[in-house]
Amino acid sequence: MTDAPPSTLLADQTAYAEAVQLALDAAAAYYGDGTSTLDDDSYDRLVRGIQAYEVEHPGEVLPTSPTGKVAGGAVVGDVPHTVPMLSLDNVFGAEQLADWAASLERRLGRPVTEWSVEPKLDGLAISARYRAGRLVQVVTRGDGTAGEDVSHAIGAIVGLPARLAEPVTVELRGEVMMTASQFEDACAKRQAHDGTTFANPRSAAAGTLRAQDRPYVCELTFFGYGALPYPDDTSELAVRLRELPHSEVMAWVAGQGVRTPAVTDVGGIVATTLEQVQERVEQIAAKRAELPFGIDGIVIKCDLAADQAQAGFSSRAPRWAIAYKLPATEKITKLVGVEWNTGRSGIIAPRAVLEPVELDGSIVTYATLHNVADITRRGLMLGDSVVVYKAGDVIPRVEAPVVHLRTGDEQPIAIPQVCPTCGDAIDASQERWRCVRGRACRVIASIGYAAGRDQLDIEGLAESRIQQMLDAGLIADFADLFYLTREQVLGLERMGETSTDNLLAAIERAKAQPLSRVFCALGVRGTGRSMSRRIARHFGSMDAIRAADAEAIEAVEGIGPKKAPGVVAELVELTDLIDKLVKAGVTMTEPGWTPPADPGAGSGAEPGDTSELPLAGMSVVVTGAMSGALEALTRNQVNELIERAGGRASSGVSAKTSLLVAGEKAGSKRTKAESLGVRIASPEEFAALVGAFL
Ligand code: IVH
Repeated sequence: MTDAPPSTLLADQTAYAEAVQLALDAAAAYYGDGTSTLDDDSYDRLVRGIQAYEVEHPGEVLPTSPTGKVAGGAVVGDVPHTVPMLSLDNVFGAEQLADWAASLERRLGRPVTEWSVEPKLDGLAISARYRAGRLVQVVTRGDGTAGEDVSHAIGAIVGLPARLAEPVTVELRGEVMMTASQFEDACAKRQAHDGTTFANPRSAAAGTLRAQDRPYVCELTFFGYGALPYPDDTSELAVRLRELPHSEVMAWVAGQGVRTPAVTDVGGIVATTLEQVQERVEQIAAKRAELPFGIDGIVIKCDLAADQAQAGFSSRAPRWAIAYKLPATEKITKLVGVEWNTGRSGIIAPRAVLEPVELDGSIVTYATLHNVADITRRGLMLGDSVVVYKAGDVIPRVEAPVVHLRTGDEQPIAIPQVCPTCGDAIDASQERWRCVRGRACRVIASIGYAAGRDQLDIEGLAESRIQQMLDAGLIADFADLFYLTREQVLGLERMGETSTDNLLAAIERAKAQPLSRVFCALGVRGTGRSMSRRIARHFGSMDAIRAADAEAIEAVEGIGPKKAPGVVAELVELTDLIDKLVKAGVTMTEPGWTPPADPGAGSGAEPGDTSELPLAGMSVVVTGAMSGALEALTRNQVNELIERAGGRASSGVSAKTSLLVAGEKAGSKRTKAESLGVRIASPEEFAALVGAFL
C-alpha cells in the first residue's frame, strides 16, 4: 500500500512503555472531560508506533496497551453495554480502501454489491435505550463494554426525542456533538459564567454531556448511525431490524423522529460500486469545510444484513465497516508571536504566528485571531499551546489555548496603543479596531492594489510614484488617477515626457477593464479576484451591485449571511470613489453579460444563456506551468479565460471537477485527477478548446 500513514518510531522497551503511558493519558483526557493533551493525528501516529513495536516484540506487549482495547484508556462507567460498542478500523486513501474491500470480498467469497456511505461524525458515541417508545437511559461508550450513565442530559440533546413515533423497544446508537451555533452559544454561556471558553466543539460536547451541576444549560445534537434490538428480543420488529439493510434501518430510525445524517448535506447513500463509493467520499470531503458540524472521515459499511453477519467482528471493530479518515483539520501547536496589521480598509487585525504544523494537507504558520476582544475572550498568552483549525480553503484560525499544557513561562500579548501602520490613534469603539484615518491609513497600499496586474493593470505606477502623487496633492485615492493631466504628471520629479505618456496611456487603457476587475480594485473585504468575477457576472453592472441589499448580495455563490452586510456597508463607504470612477468613464459593466431571461426576476438572477460556450457547466482546475498560448498569462488571467468560455475556475480537484489543465510539473492534483478518472488536458489542448476566447 502506498498511502500508509506515518507512525512514531519506538527505539526500545522504555520508549515503548512511555508511549503506552502517553497514549493512555491522552485517551483518558479525550474520553473523560474531552480535553486534549495530544491532537488526533499525533495520537493515531503514537498508537501506530505502539502497534508496530508490538508486532516486532510480541513478548513485551503491556496489558495496558491501547492497541488491545476497544477504546484505549477510556473512563470506565458502570453500565454494561448490551452489545459492545466497538471502534472502526481506518484507511487513509483510495488504494487502502480498495485493498480493504478486496480482502472483505475474499472473506465473503462474493462481491459486495451494496455499500452504505455516510459521514463519520466527530463527536461522542452514545447508546440511547428506548423502552415502549420512551427514552429511559443514555450511556456513553466508556471502554466499549461498559459506559457511564448520562441520562441527566436527556432533554438537552436535539434529535434524540424523549418519545419515538411508535411504542417500540430498541437501542439507538449514534454520535452526540455540538453544531457550530450550539458551540458558539455554549462558549458565550461559559464566558459569561467563568470567563473561559471551550477549546473546540468536541470537547465542549464531551464536557457538557458529563456535566451534572452546571448553572447553565448547553444544547447538544444527536445523529443516529445504528439501531439494535436488545439481544434477547424476538419481537417482529427485532427480527425485521436484524434483517433489513443498514440504509433501511436508518430510514426507519429517521421515521421514529430521530435525527440522522439524512437531514444534512452529507446524508448516507447506497453505492453499488467502489467507484461510486470513492465519488461519494470525495463529495463529502469537499463539503466538509462548509458543514455546521465536525466530521473526521467517511464510514463505509456493507449495506446488506447478510454481508454484515457473514463478515462478523474482530476483537475491536466490525469487519463489515471501515472509516476512511480525512486529513486532520485541527492540531495543537505553539503560539510564538502576534503580529498587528492595518488592512486596506483601516481595520487593525492581529495575526497569530505559529510553530509550523501540517493541517489538511498544507503547512500552517499563520492563523487569524480576528480582533482584540477575541484574544481577551480566549485568554491567550504568548507561548501557549493552542488548538489551530483549518479545513479546505478556510483561513486557519486559533481556536483556544490548551490551558492545562501551560508551563508558567507564558507571557501576556502586547496590545497596540496606536495604529501599527501610521502611528495615529485607534478607534476602539467597535469590536473591530480601526485606525482613525480609516482607508486613508493604507492609501498607498490601496492604490497600489487597485493598479495591480490582476485589477486595473496600470503599468509604471510604483509605490514611490504613488507616494509622490499623494505628497503633491494630485491624488487621494485611485479614482483620482483618471483625472490626472499631462502637466501635473510632467511636473513630478523624475518624470520625463515618454514615461508620462506611457503612464497616462496605461491609465486610459484601464478605463476599459471589465467590471469584475474594477470591482476587485475597490478592495472590498472578502472579495478577491474570483469573488469579484462572480459578483460582476451575477449582477452585470455596478449600478445593480450598488442597488443590491444584503439579501441580494447573498445570492452570489460563496457569500454567506456573515459576509453580505459587510460588502453592502463597504460599498456605501465607497460611494464617492465609485462616483468619481463613473464620471471618469471607467467601465461599469461586464462584457458578455446578458440580462436574466425573466425581467421580473430582479438582480438576484443569473446571467443569460451560456450553454453554447465550450466550457458550459464545467468545473475546471489549472495546475503546473502553462505553455504555448497560455504561457504569458497569469493564473488569474487563465481563470478569467475559463469563465469567459462558460466554465467555473476552481482550485481543488474533486469528483466534481470536469477538466484538469495540467502543465509541466503538475503534482498531486494530477495524481488525484487520475485516480478519480477526471479528464486531463495539456495547456495546448486547452488553448485549442477555448481558442475563440483567448
Ligand atoms: S458505525 C461497530 N457509523 O466512529 C461500530 N460509527 O472511530 C460501528 N462514528 O465508535 C460504528 N460516525 O462512535 C459508525 N456513521 C458512523 C459513525 C460512527 C461516527 C464513530 C463511532 C465509532 C467511531 C469509530
